[in-house]
Order: sequence, then structure tokens, then C-alpha cells
Amino acid sequence: MCGIVGIIGKENATDILVQGLEKLEYRGYDSAGIFVTGKNKEDHLVKSLGRIADLQSKISSEVQGTVGIGHTRWATHGKPSERNAHPHTSSNQQFILVHNGVIENFEEIKQEFLQNKQLEGETDTEIVVHLIECFAEAGMATKEAFKKALTVIKGSYAFALIDKNDPDTIYVAKNKSPLLIGLGDTFNVICSDAMAMLAETNHFVEIADGEMVIVKADKIEIEDEKGNLVYRESYEAQLDLSDIEKGTYPYYMLKEIDDQPTVMRRIIQEYTNTVGDAVIDDKIIGKITGSDRIYVVACGTSYNAGWVGKAILEKMTKIPVEVHLSSEFGYNMPLLSEKPFFIFLSQSGETADSRQVLVQTNELGLPSLTLTNVAGSTLSREADYTLLLHAGPEIAVASTKAYTAQIAVLAVLAKAVGDKKGNQSSLEFDIAHELSVIAAVMETIIDEKMVISQLVEDYLSTTRNAFYIGRGVDYYVSMEASLKLKEISYIQAEGFAAGELKHGTIALIEDGTPVFGIITDQKTAAHTRGNLKEVESRGAHNFVIALASLAKETDQLIIPDVHPLLTPLVSIIPTQLIAYFATLQRGYDVDKPRNLAKSVTVE
Ligand code: F6R
Repeated sequence: MCGIVGIIGKENATDILVQGLEKLEYRGYDSAGIFVTGKNKEDHLVKSLGRIADLQSKISSEVQGTVGIGHTRWATHGKPSERNAHPHTSSNQQFILVHNGVIENFEEIKQEFLQNKQLEGETDTEIVVHLIECFAEAGMATKEAFKKALTVIKGSYAFALIDKNDPDTIYVAKNKSPLLIGLGDTFNVICSDAMAMLAETNHFVEIADGEMVIVKADKIEIEDEKGNLVYRESYEAQLDLSDIEKGTYPYYMLKEIDDQPTVMRRIIQEYTNTVGDAVIDDKIIGKITGSDRIYVVACGTSYNAGWVGKAILEKMTKIPVEVHLSSEFGYNMPLLSEKPFFIFLSQSGETADSRQVLVQTNELGLPSLTLTNVAGSTLSREADYTLLLHAGPEIAVASTKAYTAQIAVLAVLAKAVGDKKGNQSSLEFDIAHELSVIAAVMETIIDEKMVISQLVEDYLSTTRNAFYIGRGVDYYVSMEASLKLKEISYIQAEGFAAGELKHGTIALIEDGTPVFGIITDQKTAAHTRGNLKEVESRGAHNFVIALASLAKETDQLIIPDVHPLLTPLVSIIPTQLIAYFATLQRGYDVDKPRNLAKSVTVE
């Protein structure tokens, strides 16, 4: 979703902003813009619909300065257009603002304060820059006007504001939307994601909700809501520029699919000891062991990982697990058990839907754990405990390695709790060994890329729709496999419980409809095969992905056996490659599917 960058104190502000915006491209956006000033007091505002490359083509060599802000916009209020792209300016052009988030009371602000202002576009951000101007016109200094505006605004925001009359300062504030300050020796930067500014610094300072920051080239001043100065240590980002480069890969998604065996080995290293036991903070284990029900709350791919996690957690811990969509849970909270424990799954750690649930569970004083790939992310900071996924940055919009990392970390957690409870199913489970087998099997499947590419051509080259079916964990994997296929190849795909098809949905099967059956569970294999026969008799073009011990010679893809609890970690791999090749063959951008954003920071 929207991204913010800013720089103060460097000669080549324009290049730094554009390079920063390029690093944020993966988050998803539809337009972009920069404002640069400082050098010779000349101001430059450049905006463009489309890609950063389109913006770049509009930036002439005169666009130079030592201070600037930039933005990638993912439309919420007002359609994608140059007019609605950020930065936005006040009527007298004195104030320039970029914003991530959603201003909930923008209509009220318009009515109460901006009756006589001429607005250019339809965005909620434009309201804010005019509101600041309004307070400045009433005699307030810029800082006061900005702070006053913050007291009026309701909603989520990360703001960066420049006053053209004082280009030695960037004013920054945040509430619920991510924003960091990066520290340099003679300059400072701002960014909604550390990746954007890694080329400049790897020392960052977090901003808490409600704080306002004055950013100058040689210092930063953080003020809390009451105006008290706050001192906060910087931290060193554990990221390397090479982590976020594609290298020789044509797309990040392919690199990230290939990364998965390494991620599994990293999880073994991070979360198991030399004798192979799970190593998780005792406090987390204590809380879960003392709970009577685990609630997993997540969205999209993370939600799908949650279902697989439920299967593993229940077997090992013997604690009932419920899996919920964040966007539903928050506003339709089910009756909770007496001693609930919440697990938030979120690759980005910034998903607004999940955060609104966490805010509520915190208000209720309920214990929570976030599993996330991003240290220091909002969900990580606000939950009681965090377990990092250690998957390395995931740049492609379609999540792959974060999904398998979530399942693997949940499996380690399940093992640690199960062992603590003395459960036989857990004590017998050698997690380090089983995950190392998984890593090796993942490699075997990934090596079959070209075979999968050919099969995709045979099955998906012309189809408009497709099905993934399975039972139990194979159904959960089907849900994720179909999400992957539809979000990047735009083939309408459904992940369905194999036995449920005949209760209605089988009506959609026509001559040639591709149906992918996933078979990794011995107790349901025969039934799923039966369901595949049913669709085949109605014209379906069946594609079977089966575990070796359950496979038939006629199956299209055979996967080496792994521990029965961990089959989703390997059965998902061919489906990720199927989505990748289907997209490539249709000529779409694999990493940046239409309408989607990597980090969904609005509800
Ligand atoms: C799909 C995908 C999304 C995310 C969802 C939640 O490939 O990535 O469905 O899983 O938006 O995001 P996180 O996990 O960051 O909370």
C-alpha cells in the first residue's frame, strides 16, 4: 500500500527519493510523486500516474534539492490519477504533504473548516493540507498548525509535511500507519519501510502512535501528544541490501519460492537446540499451556497458514484452536473461552484488519503473540510476545516463503507446548529432523520447475477458471493454492473441500475445467480420488498432486513422503510454481498484480 520517503540534508535528494520509491514499489501502488526543494530555493513538484519509471521520465535535470518527500499511492479516496497523487499542496502552495492511511472524519473537517477552500481532487489527504493552512492563516506557526490538525483528525495516518518557507525541516507524525526515521551523519531520512532507505542508512528510530517529530538535517526531536520531548534509542536494521535485490532472478516471486529450503533451515537454527528440541521463550509456552483455547487471527495467505497451523497445534498441544479472519473477528467477535490465547499471523506485521483485533484484545487484557516477518512492526510491538519468521524480506506481492515459514514456526511452537504438556504425539516428533527433510524435499520439487512449467501450459493456457480440491490439510492447502493462482494470473480459482463439491459447486464443472486434486493424507486419499472421478465424468481436466506413498502412475506430480503433519509445507510448492508459470505465460507482471498491495494498512 502507500509508501512514504523523505530526505533532508543531502545534495541529491531527488535521486534518493526516486530510489526509495522504487524500493517501495513492491507494496503495490497506482501513482507516485515527489516534492523537492532547498537548492536555490526552487521548488519542484512532479507527479505521475502509473509506475515509478513513468514518474522518472517526467523528472528533468532541474529537479534538484536538498530536502524532499515522495509517495506511492494506492487509491482509497478518489480514483488513481495525477491529480489525486501525492504530494498535495495547500491553496497558497506553502504546505506540501504526503500521507498514508485513511482520515475517517474528512467530510466533517471539510464542512467545519474548509467551506471556502477550493479543493483539487477527491483525496482525504488534501483535506489535511488545507486544514493545516487554515490554522496557519489563523496565526499559528507551522508546528502549532500541524499539531492542531492532528488533534482534529480521526483515523490512521503517517504524515510528512514541508513548509516551503522553512525548508530546513520535515514535520512528521504517525498514528496506526508505519513510519520510521533513518539517521545519517549529516542528513536524516524518513520512510514507511526501512528497505526504502537502506542504501542511505541502517540506523532507524521508531515513532510511536500520537508522536510528532521535527526532522532536520542534523537532529530529530520527538514530541509526545502532550508536547513532552521523548528520547528514543535507534536500532540497527537487520537487513542487507542484497536481501532485497532480485539478483539473477527474473522475478522476486521465483527467488522467494527458491528461498524456502533456506528459510526452513534458518528456522531450525533459530528455534531448535543441538539435540533438536524446540526452543521458544518459556513465558510464551507458559501462557499457551495455561490457556483453554487458541484463537488464530489473520488475513489472506496468513489466514490460510493459520488453518494448517490449527491442524498441527491441535494434534500436538491438545488445545482447541479456532481460526478467524481479522476483518470479520473484530466486528463480530465470537463468544470467547475463559482463558483464550491469541496468535496473530502477519507477514508484514502491519495489516490494519489484524491490528484492529489486537487493539481490542489488548483492551480486554487478553494475552497475545504475533508471528511476523518484520521485527519492530506494529503487530509485533503491540502484542505481548513476538516470534519472528526469519524468512528474509518478502518483496513479491504474492506471499510464498512467509506462508511456509508461518507453518514451520507454528509447528515448532506446537512442539514446544506439546512437550511441556508431556503429550506423546509431541514427544515423539523430532521437529529439527522433520524440517530438514522438508527442506530437502522442497529442493527436489523446485528442481522440477521446467516440468511444472510444461504442465501449466497444457492445463491452464486458455482456461478462465480452475479448482483446487482436497480434504483436511489438503483442503487448507487448496485454499492457499487457489488464492495464489487467482491473485497473480487472474484465473478465477476456487479452493474447495473435495467432498463438498457435489453439494452444489460441481455444477460449475464443464468440459476442460482444470481441477487440481491434492492428496497427501492416507485416511482421505481414496475419498478425494473418488471426488476427482466425479468431476472427471463431467468433463474436468484433472491434475493430481500426490504424496509418493499414495500416488498412482497416472498422477501428474508426485512428491516425496514427509512427516504426515507437515505435508502442506511441500504440497504447496508445486502450486506456487503453477501460479508463477500461469502468470508468466499469460504475460502479466508476476510481482505486481493489479489492485493488490503487499502491506494492507487500511481496513
Ligand atoms: C497473498 C497475500 C495476502 C496477505 C494478507 C495479509 O499472497 O500476501 O493475502 O497474506 O494481505 O498480510 P499479512 O500477512 O502481512 O498480514
